[in-house]
Amino acid sequence: MKAETGQDIDKAAYLLSDGEVIAIPTETVYGLAANCFNLKAVANVFKIKKRPNFDPLIVHIAGLQAIDRFAKNIPSNARQLAEAFWPGPLTLVLPKQDIIPFEVTSGLDTVALRVPKHSMTLSLLSQLPFPLAAPSANPFGYISPTSAEHVFNQLGNDIPYILDGGPAQIGIESTIVGFENEIPVIYRYGIITPEQIKKVVGNTLIRVHTSSNPQAPGMLHSHYAPRTPLFITDLNTEITNPNVGFLAFSIPHPQIHPTNQVVLSESGNVFEAARNLYAALRKLDNMNFSCIYTSLLEDESGEATAINDRLKRASFQSDTHK
Ligand code: TXA
Ligand code: MG
Repeated sequence: MKAETGQDIDKAAYLLSDGEVIAIPTETVYGLAANCFNLKAVANVFKIKKRPNFDPLIVHIAGLQAIDRFAKNIPSNARQLAEAFWPGPLTLVLPKQDIIPFEVTSGLDTVALRVPKHSMTLSLLSQLPFPLAAPSANPFGYISPTSAEHVFNQLGNDIPYILDGGPAQIGIESTIVGFENEIPVIYRYGIITPEQIKKVVGNTLIRVHTSSNPQAPGMLHSHYAPRTPLFITDLNTEITNPNVGFLAFSIPHPQIHPTNQVVLSESGNVFEAARNLYAALRKLDNMNFSCIYTSLLEDESGEATAINDRLKRASFQSDTHK
C-alpha cells in the first residue's frame, strides 16, 4: 500500500467509516486516526505506530457539546477550560463514559479528549457519527509529524490516505490537563501555558512525568527523539567536530558551518520556533551527522517551557532504548 495524499474530506470519512486508519491534520501535529469504537481499527493504530498497548490514545471530538457523551463527573473547571480553549491545543483527561472502549484508554477509567482547531478535521469530525482516536502520526518514540510529507515518509506504506491540511500551525503536541480531586494537573506542557490555565481556573498543579510509570504513560524520556543523538549545550561551548549539526533558537553557533545549522526563528519568536521545531529536527536527523547539538531557550517561561521540554526529551539519555 502507498498512501494517497489529498484534501478529500468525503474520502477520509468513507475510509474511516470502513474501518481504515488514516492520517489527519490538526493545528498541533498530524494524527493517526481511527474510529474510536472500531476495536480492530484501534488495534491497527497501535500496530502501525508500534506503540505499546499501555500508552492510551487521545479521542478527538467535534465540539464541546459532545463532551458529556464521552466523559462523566466533569469538574466545573474542566468545562471552563474547554470553553476557554476548544477548539484548540488542549487535551482534558476526564472520567470516561462506558461508551469509550478500554482499548483506547489502555484500561484506564479516564479518557483524554480534545477538539482540534483545524477546519478540515473539524468538518470531518462533524460529518462522522463517531469520534477519532488518534495519537501523533509517527512511529513510537520518534519526532511527531507537522506536515503530510512527514507522515508519508514514515507511514506511507502502512495507511491508505493522508488528509493534507498543510503545515501544522502550532507545531508541538497539545497541553494535557487532568484533574485530581477537581484540581487541574498539567501532565504535558504545550503551547497553552500553565499561566493561561491558572488564569481561567486558579490553582493548578504541574506533574510532568518522565518516569516509566507516569500518569500520562507516553511521557517517557525517549519521546520526540531523532535517531541521531541530540545533545544540549550552549553557544559558548567549543565544538571542533565538523560532522555535527546545530539546532539554533535564534542565534547560530559561531563555530559550526551555517549549512549544518537550522535557525528556528531569527526574530526569537517562540511560536515560530515551535512551529518549525520538528521539521528542523527531522531535517538535521536526515543529514547523517555524528550528532546534533542544540541549546535550551534561555528564558524558560511561558511557551518556551514547552519547547525546552521537547528538546530535553529529544536529547540523548543513557536510559532510553534509542
Ligand atoms: O496535539 C496532540 O495532542 C496530538 C494531536 C494528534 O491531537 N496527539 C498526541 O497524541 O500528541 P499522543 O498519543 O502522541 O500523545 C497523547 C498523550 C500520551 O502521552 C498519552 O499517554 C496521554 O496523552 N494520554 C492519553 N490518554 C490518557 C489518559 N487517560 N490519562 C493520562 N494520559 C493520557
Ligand atoms: Mg506522540
